[in-house]
Amino acid sequence: MLSIKNVSKKYSNNFTALSNFNLELERGIIGLLGANGAGKSTLMKMIATVSKPSEGVITWNGKNIHKDGDELRHDLGYLPQSFGVFPNLTAIEFLKYMAALKGLNMKKAKNRISELIDLLNLSDAANRSIGNYSGGMRQRIGIAQALLNDPKILIVDEPTVGLDPNERMNFRNLINSLAKDKIIMLSTHIVSDVEASAEKIVLMNKGKLICFCRNEELLNSLEGTVWECIVRENELKEIKEKYITGNIIRRNEGMAVRVISEAKPLANAVAIQPTLEDAYIYYTSGKRGEKLE
Ligand SMILES: Nc1ncnc2c1ncn2[C@@H]1O[C@H](COP(=O)(O)OP(=O)(O)OP(=O)(O)O)[C@@H](O)[C@H]1O
Ligand SMILES: [Mg+2]
Repeated sequence: MLSIKNVSKKYSNNFTALSNFNLELERGIIGLLGANGAGKSTLMKMIATVSKPSEGVITWNGKNIHKDGDELRHDLGYLPQSFGVFPNLTAIEFLKYMAALKGLNMKKAKNRISELIDLLNLSDAANRSIGNYSGGMRQRIGIAQALLNDPKILIVDEPTVGLDPNERMNFRNLINSLAKDKIIMLSTHIVSDVEASAEKIVLMNKGKLICFCRNEELLNSLEGTVWECIVRENELKEIKEKYITGNIIRRNEGMAVRVISEAKPLANAVAIQPTLEDAYIYYTSGKRGEKLE
């Protein structure tokens, strides 16, 4: 059980990147969703014990991880957002090196490494230097090293960056297959990444928790407030200033704009089903960034 209580992070320049954050996690896939600078990496770094809260406490199975972090680190797999590799090592050499640093039994680790190379579709490149890998392949090595110790708590910061659609899907399937009995926390600003796999979403904006809820709850909260309006091109500016707007598509009859508004925005507006992307736009728009009740 991971518990985050009243946690704030103020960086040395006095900037508050996270304020009064509270979360209790037991197991399952949790998607951290928020714009650039929302505080996702700040939160993950603190859970991974590479950064300390300015206020508040994070506990793992009841122990304060910034005072007594051995158990957490033993149970942790972490892929930082900026993950550096040693370019001269091959994938296998690198994973063996990481396994040794993690203090794993090397005999068991060798089997695990073969398994992970296979799971992450890196078999063909396993004996090539990582320095020559593509961005997406490097990212997959990052995911593999986070899984070496079969972690009970897996923190992956923007794991799908640079992955092509097939590898994105492969990653989602992998995460789904691992989710039993684990906490998997993944951050992204790509809504579809969490839509498919996350059981619960932590939606954050400017260092604040907007909601910690299931996808459906977020969608329900927008029921009846998402509209499609057909407008002329010269009306777009006004509607964008007045309302929270999403996708705009050019159609034969005019510009089709998704508008999020409690009141019907225009006479020709048609109510449509909310998507998670609508919820993301709505709650992070700044026009309505307060906590979801
Ligand atoms: N070491 C630091 N010193 C000062 N400010 C920092 C530091 N690290 C992060 N910040 C600031 O804290 C805020 C949150 O940063 P963080 O990296 O947690 O955001 P994020 O949600 O992970 O964003 P992204 O989607 O771009 O990865 C940002 O405004 C950032 O500029
Ligand atoms: Mg980040």
